[in-house]
Amino acid sequence: MSKRRVLSGIRATGRLHLGNYLGAVKGMVELEESDKYETLYMVADLHSLTTPYDKEKLQENVKNVVLDYLSAGINPEKSTIFIQSQVPEHTELFYLFSTVVSLARMMHLPTYKEKIAQHPKSSTVALLNYPVLMASDILIYKAGLVPVGIDQEPHLEIAREIARKMNATYGLDFLEPKRFATKGEYVPSLTGEGKMSKSVDGSFINLTDDLEAIKKKLSKVPTDSGAGDMLPKEGGVATLFTLIELFQGTNERIKYEEQYIGSGIKYSELKEKLSEAIYEDLKPIQEKRSELESDPEYVDKVIKEGAEKARKIASETLKEVKQKMGLG
Ligand code: ADP
Ligand code: TRP
Repeated sequence: MSKRRVLSGIRATGRLHLGNYLGAVKGMVELEESDKYETLYMVADLHSLTTPYDKEKLQENVKNVVLDYLSAGINPEKSTIFIQSQVPEHTELFYLFSTVVSLARMMHLPTYKEKIAQHPKSSTVALLNYPVLMASDILIYKAGLVPVGIDQEPHLEIAREIARKMNATYGLDFLEPKRFATKGEYVPSLTGEGKMSKSVDGSFINLTDDLEAIKKKLSKVPTDSGAGDMLPKEGGVATLFTLIELFQGTNERIKYEEQYIGSGIKYSELKEKLSEAIYEDLKPIQEKRSELESDPEYVDKVIKEGAEKARKIASETLKEVKQKMGLG
């Protein structure tokens, strides 16, 4: 029996942060390590064009995502790493999929509304179509499992709807893709509001941040007096507790929570220890990155071979879909 396929992607919009790492990349590494799956990981460069971007920096951003993948532990011997635009079959399938999706469904998607609110002047057709292209990215490999953060769930729902519709209308056999969730499926923002995000200044810690940078960023997380009758459910202190859980473990989090209800927390010490724990996790990733940076030919080879492997699978699916849709 052939292996179940896994597909994931990250947009090339800037340096990866702890949210991307814990919510997506860690899941990607975990699935790669299992023999049960064939894993394909891409850089979603076409999706990067759906919000304002700098064309001079796009290639650099694409390379940076690949470097982040490799340094965070994705192994090109096990996974196919490729750039979305180098597999043009995705965009062709995307068009075919767009024929079974209603305009109303896309316009009411919460992720679309949020993006327009963030970028009111960028309400383009490409942005509206974002989830249809994402469905094509996944279904072109007939992938059943997608390691992404919880914010991507509405997009996966669209992919499942498209799979059902294509199967029912044209007799195809797409799987309905499920999200592979990690413990860090929702990493909160350092500002204490919403999720950690590349597009919100002051919200993130990058995988490339050194200890000093991490300390500086954590020092700005808003806190309170350090004690109270009830644990805060949101805001900066709640963010700190979540990060402690993720980097120092449950026992540490419980210890601090007890201090909060009891004698009180000294945030300067808490932040110092948390910074060190985060850096401890990031240090090997950074060391691997500097090794890879000195070997750009290796990275280019990985990308080239990845595109070839991905195209083989993608072109087969596209051919099958075109045939079943009556395109010969
Ligand atoms: P951003 O919102 O920072 O631009 P992307 O949209 O490029 O990040 O997301 C890339 C991947 O990282 C997706 O799988 C997404 O679900 C995941 N991700 C992004 N932010 C977080 C977060 N704060 N917590 C958990 N996962 C996240
Ligand atoms: N929408 C995803 C994000 O913002 C990126 C993405 C594009 C993706 N295509 C995908 C993720 C396919 C998983 C599968 O991060």
